Formats: sequence, structure tokens, C-alpha cells
Amino acid sequence: MSGITISNLTKRFGSNTIVDDLELTIDEGEFVVLLGPSGCGKTTTLRCLAGLETPEGGTISFGDRTVFDAKTHTDVATHRRNIGMIFQSYALWPHMTVRDNIGYPLKVRRKKEALRSGAVDKAAAMVDTGHLLDRYPSQLSGGQQQRVAVARGLVAEPDLVLFDEPLSNLDARLRDQVRTQIHQLHQRLGFSAVFVTHDQSEAFALGDRLAIMKDGRLEQCDTPQRVFDEPGSDYVAAFIGMGNRLVLTRHHEGWQTANGDVLDLGSRSPERGGADEIIARLRPADLHLHRAVEDAPHGSTVLHATLVTTEFGGRHYDVLVDVAGERLTLQADTREHGAWLPTAEEGAPVVVSFNPTDVRTYAADPARSAERESVAV
Ligand SMILES: Nc1ncnc2c1ncn2[C@@H]1O[C@H](COP(=O)(O)OP(=O)(O)OP(=O)(O)O)[C@@H](O)[C@H]1O
Ligand SMILES: [Mg+2]
Repeated sequence: MSGITISNLTKRFGSNTIVDDLELTIDEGEFVVLLGPSGCGKTTTLRCLAGLETPEGGTISFGDRTVFDAKTHTDVATHRRNIGMIFQSYALWPHMTVRDNIGYPLKVRRKKEALRSGAVDKAAAMVDTGHLLDRYPSQLSGGQQQRVAVARGLVAEPDLVLFDEPLSNLDARLRDQVRTQIHQLHQRLGFSAVFVTHDQSEAFALGDRLAIMKDGRLEQCDTPQRVFDEPGSDYVAAFIGMGNRLVLTRHHEGWQTANGDVLDLGSRSPERGGADEIIARLRPADLHLHRAVEDAPHGSTVLHATLVTTEFGGRHYDVLVDVAGERLTLQADTREHGAWLPTAEEGAPVVVSFNPTDVRTYAADPARSAERESVAV
């Protein structure tokens, strides 16, 4: 097998198009993370890959083997696609022991030799569950159940492993542990994987490439570093942590906020002749709080704001400020701001600065601009 190719994949439920002409390739051994908000079609895409849904259009190939083709009515059954599946709900059989659960895919595929030669023990050992083989799922913790599900997903040495938010039912500490284990197993075993999540830190940690999905289509597909550095759209920027959004209008050589600050966006300033309204996106970590303009570093871009709330977070305060009705979040160092910030009142004037290289700009949503114009008229 050499890689998986998905072309023009379309899946509808009734009149709703859930997966919309999707194009994606997964190289052999590659770990692709499918990232997107609830309802955008992530699970449906995995189910199409697994052969659990019949798409209305498109093709899916595993290497040079076509497993689905809407035109020729090719639709290879799930158990003949050689895939492993690991879900959010561990989906272990309650009436089977851990040994029988892990061995189940081998039984279904009639891999008797593997069953006899200790494949189940090997898979269990990979995720530290070798001592649990005689227990039933109800006698395991959530973290142990999910590790058993990982062993079951990998036992038959699948070409492609599908993960559907496998960590989201685990508490923070276990989530980190199981995530690291999945990462190590992928490096050791080299299977191809599609891993669905809506958690950006999971996506950055695990993905060779991130595929960001919106309404059944891919909005951007690139390495974690590229997606982090250059989110391809306002939607992607918002989704991968650039939660701060400011609408700016053109003002001579600069860009103006709704309360009249003219900002220097440096090399991120769109060319002249383009739109007169843009969206600026910034990460909370790239915004800095000051009491006055003079305190902002030389060369930084400054904004006048008012304080909304301050919450103590240990090393830093989580701060919410207002810029003419738009809310920005940032973190302020406790040692630097502890003397004044906790007692500052709501509505107090503050200054926010950022380095112009950290801003990303996008064309404003045309529907929104039209709405503003009609209000102005
Ligand atoms: N069997 C079905 N029949 C009808 N509609 C469905 C069916 N399965 C999913 N949908 C709809 O398809 C859309 C996408 O669902 P899907 O489960 O793929 O989303 P998702 O991206 O996995 O979301 P989440 O992050 O919440 O799991 C949703 O609007 C859902 O209601
Ligand atoms: Mg889902």
C-alpha cells in the first residue's frame, strides 16, 4: 500500500451535504489530523473511509486498490479494508474479557495464526495493559479502557488507523499520557492515521499535517508549523488560537480601529487598492498590557482599551479588555502587574501593544461589510 487518496468525496443525509467534494491524500505512514468544529463532518468523513457510510459521490483508494467508487458501485466491506478504529466512547464489548476484546479484529479477519502466536499479548503490552487481560471492561478505569481500545485498533497491523476524538473523555493528565503513547506507537509502527479532534493542542502535538475542515470541505491542509504561522483564512486563524479579532478600516497609510487608533501593521498591512475593511487576528500571548502608551516597547503597535475583567491564573492574570465594543483577551505577568491590576476597576483605561509581525490580516467578511453599510445608510 502506498497512501490513501480521497477524491471528490460527497456524502449527503437527506438534503444536507455533510461532506462536500472533499479532496485529501494521506501518505504512507503519515499522521493527518482532521480538525474542525462540532458538526462540520469529521466523523462522517471517517465513517466513509471505514466503509460504514456509503457516499453519494467520489472515490477512495488505498494504494492502487479502489475501496470506494460511486460511479462503478465499488464499495469494499469494512472488514476487508484493513483499518483500525478507535473512538471517543471506547466501544469495548462488555461481555468479553480484555483479551477477547483486543483479539476481536483478528477473529473477524480469521487471522488464526496471529491469535495463536501472541499478537494480543504484544498489542496489550504496547499500551501497558498486559496485566489486565483477564478483566472485563467494567473492571477498568476510563484511561485503561481507552488503552485497550488502542491495542484493539492496532492488533491486526492495519494500514490505516482512524481515531475519532479518542482522548476527549479522559481527564487532563490521562489525556496527555495516552496522547504521548499514541505518538510513540505511531513513530514505532509507522501506520497511516487520520485523527479527528477539535483540540488544537492535540492537533499540533500529533499531526504531520493538519486538515482544517469547514462545512464538509477542507479550508487548509498543511504542516502544524505552517498552519500556526500562516493560517490561511480568518476561520482557520480563529480555530487555531488567534481568538482576538479586530475590524480595521483604511486610514491613509495605516489601519484604524473603531475608537480611532491608527495602527501600523508593518509588512502585514494589505496592499493599497485592496479592501477598505480588514480583520486583524492576534493570539492572546502576543498582546501586552500597559498602564500608559509610554510603557509600550519602542516599535510596537499600540491600542487604547478599557479593562473589563481580571482573573488570577498563577504566573499571570487572564485579562479581558474592550476596544470600542470588541473584546480582546490577553495574559499579564503577575510580577509585572500585581501591584496595580488586581485593584484596577472595570472601565479603567489601559494600553495594549503588539509586535506588528505577530498580526495576521484577512479580507473582511463581505456579508458583514454590506450589513454595516446598510446600517450606515
Ligand atoms: N446518520 C445521520 N443522519 C442524518 N444526519 C446526520 C447523520 N450523521 C451525522 N449527521 C449530521 O451530519 C453533520 C455532521 O456530523 P458529524 O458527526 O460528521 O460531525 P462532527 O464534525 O464529527 O462533529 P462533532 O465534533 O460534534 O463530533 C451533523 O449536522 C449531523 O447532525
Ligand atoms: Mg464527531
